[in-house]
Amino acid sequence: MKVCILMGSPRLQGNTATVLKPFMDRLAEKGAAVDYITLSDKHIEPCIDCRLCQDVYDAFGCPLQDDLQPIFDAVLQADCIIWATPIYSWNCTPPMKAVLDRFVRGMNKYYGQKKGSSLWEGKKCAIVTTCGYNIEYAAGPFEESLRRYCKHSRLTYIDKMGMRDTGSIANMQKEEVVSAAWNFADTIYDACI
Ligand SMILES: Cc1cc2nc3c(=O)[nH]c(=O)nc-3n(C[C@H](O)[C@H](O)[C@H](O)COP(=O)(O)O)c2cc1C
Repeated sequence: MKVCILMGSPRLQGNTATVLKPFMDRLAEKGAAVDYITLSDKHIEPCIDCRLCQDVYDAFGCPLQDDLQPIFDAVLQADCIIWATPIYSWNCTPPMKAVLDRFVRGMNKYYGQKKGSSLWEGKKCAIVTTCGYNIEYAAGPFEESLRRYCKHSRLTYIDKMGMRDTGSIANMQKEEVVSAAWNFADTIYDACI
């Protein structure tokens, strides 16, 4: 079982990354292969709606020259994609939004000369997030958009895990956070085997 974690925070040792550590440890302990990809240190252009990818039916087909092709390949290898992001203005961070936009076209070949398929159909998705406000209020809009994104892309949305930023990284290392991360890793593992 392969899990690809796309990590959207610019703080590579911040709250989201800290919550992900026990989550990844637990997945590895259970025998899952984990691919951890940080997005903020990559060159990822926004989608320019050129539509060239739509007539490439079996590959990404995006003409933009940046770092997204290997991420596309890693996602295609995975059984489950974890969208790990702090909430920024009720949404994911900009590099993650760019990935979502590039993939909603490059993965889903719905708008070319002929109707193509979803290249990632059947894969599972989940969210790991941290935010300042309470989880439902802060992350609800992003979760709802990802639910609809999954339906459109023929992915299966599993669930989200959210932790509230209470002002220090140390709080994200507390026993209750570690235990919630382990439980969420178990949920993901069970949903994917
Ligand atoms: C630009 C920006 C926008 C933010 N917007 C929100 C928001 O809409 N709702 C919220 O609850 N927290 C918001 N936050 C707080 C972060 O989500 C929170 O501090 C998070 O834990 C940071 O995670 P990180 O350390 O992994 O980057 C925002 C933070 C920044 C920098």
